[in-house]
Amino acid sequence: MRTAGQSVANTIYQVNRLYEASFYLDLYRSCVDDTARRSRPAATGRLHDDPGEITLTDVTFRYPGQDTPAVDGVSCTFRRGEVIALVGENGSGKSTLAKLVTGLYLPDSGTVAWDGVDIASVDQRELHDRVAVVFQGPLRWPMHAENNVRIGRIERPDPGGARLAEAAARSGTDGVVAELPDGWATVLSREFQGGRDLSGGQWQRISVARGLYRDAPS
Ligand SMILES: Nc1ncnc2c1ncn2[C@@H]1O[C@H](COP(=O)(O)OP(=O)(O)OP(=O)(O)O)[C@@H](O)[C@H]1O
Ligand SMILES: [Mg+2]
Repeated sequence: MRTAGQSVANTIYQVNRLYEASFYLDLYRSCVDDTARRSRPAATGRLHDDPGEITLTDVTFRYPGQDTPAVDGVSCTFRRGEVIALVGENGSGKSTLAKLVTGLYLPDSGTVAWDGVDIASVDQRELHDRVAVVFQGPLRWPMHAENNVRIGRIERPDPGGARLAEAAARSGTDGVVAELPDGWATVLSREFQGGRDLSGGQWQRISVARGLYRDAPS
């Protein structure tokens, strides 16, 4: 009787587990579907090493779950060497447009072409290799100051630290680092012993230095 009772209890326990696991199965399915929907097709185009012109044609982009597009039917051209300022109200889509121009997002409709090559058709690593972006809200890595800049392009050779120094000088990060107790070796997080946090503006200088150190074609 006891063995039979244990078997029944065990069966009920296992059925219950199966029921709970079925919730995760739905999650797994939606994740697989989402991955298939968002995956980019295999690369067919090649980018130029030094892109000269970026052209947007009727570009529209909507964030998932939003009713209205953040960027709607935009066409424009950016030429090499130009300095472009996008002016508009908060939430009008400037940052989103910047992410579309640099290929961090692909448009829902319309095309973004670099020298006539649709960036949806190229290898994403090749594309990202040519881009340096300094975002509105800087990423604050809990690492020392030097790696917070070098992470822009960690594999870039820099014998003697001349390139780091140049990026620091051009962004004004050298002044920030001079005030840190251990200079470049200071960890930029209070969560670590001896770590320091920076002001918003000082973090932005670090972020600009990171973009300059990345040294993308301009
Ligand atoms: N990750 C996101 N998910 C969903 N909606 C977003 C996301 N990022 C931005 N949006 C929405 O898209 C629209 C455009 O946002 P975007 O950040 O491009 O504006 P912006 O012009 O850069 O604004 P700001 O001047 O404040 O920087 C806004 O309505 C915003 O709420
Ligand atoms: Mg913005």
